[in-house]
Amino acid sequence: MPNFDEIVDRTQSHCEKWDKYKGQDVIPMWVADMDFRSPRCIIDALHVRVEHGIFGYTDIDEGTNQAVVDFVKRHYDWEIKKEWIVWIPGVVSGMNITCKMIKGDVITNTPIYPHFVKAPKNAKRELAQVPLVEKNNRWTIDFDAFEKAVNPTCKLFMLCNPYNPAGTVFTCKELEQLGAFCVKHDLTLCSDEIHADLLLNPEAKHIPIASLSPALQERTITLMAPSKTFNIAGLQASFAIIPNATLRKRFKESMGSMVGGINLLGITAMRTAYEKGDAWLAELRLYLAENLKLIQAFVAKNPKLKLLEQEATFLAWIDASALHVKSPHEFFLEFGVGLSDGEPFGDKNFVRLNFGTQRTLLEEILKRMQKAMDSLKI
Ligand SMILES: Cc1ncc(COP(=O)(O)O)c(C=O)c1O
Repeated sequence: MPNFDEIVDRTQSHCEKWDKYKGQDVIPMWVADMDFRSPRCIIDALHVRVEHGIFGYTDIDEGTNQAVVDFVKRHYDWEIKKEWIVWIPGVVSGMNITCKMIKGDVITNTPIYPHFVKAPKNAKRELAQVPLVEKNNRWTIDFDAFEKAVNPTCKLFMLCNPYNPAGTVFTCKELEQLGAFCVKHDLTLCSDEIHADLLLNPEAKHIPIASLSPALQERTITLMAPSKTFNIAGLQASFAIIPNATLRKRFKESMGSMVGGINLLGITAMRTAYEKGDAWLAELRLYLAENLKLIQAFVAKNPKLKLLEQEATFLAWIDASALHVKSPHEFFLEFGVGLSDGEPFGDKNFVRLNFGTQRTLLEEILKRMQKAMDSLKI
């Protein structure tokens, strides 16, 4: 049984998250990795691989290919073929490769994970950003606004599902409508599904948009990875699923010799995660869901903060606009809480709280945030 309550000292491991506030009394709750050890099976498999002692150029083996195919079928009921998989070191790389290969402008939502804005910019593409809308207490897509924003130079839709930072898991109906929009405007779809495994309701289901129809499968590049799910982002192992042979060829050409594959420890970790990680993942989801309840209770006590329904991810997107402070991020930082600033995501009135951490740490964070909130009443 994993012990997610166990505090693991990360301050001696050069980790981005904890080093940012080194030497300060600030608990970091920003960048999207978790403070939990990866599953024991992954650690053991890495030990075995390291003990071999030779770390030369390595192929991706048949077993790893099969592990991905089986995981996607088991979890998402999507039958993919091994030859559709293109290995990449990171999902952000996949986003940049895609923007470079599609000769046209890009359309996406806002606020959004900053690389959705950076990747089109890197490729010198124009980007239309359409705000999410609040409907039935969740963030969702405004299709009328998309119809107004799209123009004939747009060739690529970049989707984030589940959505970072808004926490939405798009429904089948929403995805079908989105798919129809892409078909109507002849847009290629790049679907970043890196958070697909992190649904907080055990009954909820992630649907890869490409799995909805053969027509969508043909126009979609799906980006996935075990990195968020099993806390192995530092091992840099991700993949694109590209059923359309022409798109796949262009994706590989766009990678050229500039983007390498996955490092061999990443391959070992990915295969093990997908073959043996299901039970750990089920426990993780329950733990994260309990953490979320603490945050929801805290927000309920503080009507100046707002959090819509959080369906997935360990990242809570909190509206702090009613505080009327210059920067909510700076405001909470003064009380020793290192949240993500909403500004790079597209809204400086929000903060993003990473709750992929031990419950005692989260409780301490919420205590500090309550102190911050109480200071406004004085
Ligand atoms: C939606 C989304 N895509 C991509 C990434 C990063 O992916 P990678 O580390 O594989 O480049 C993140 C990390 O937070 C993310 O939230």
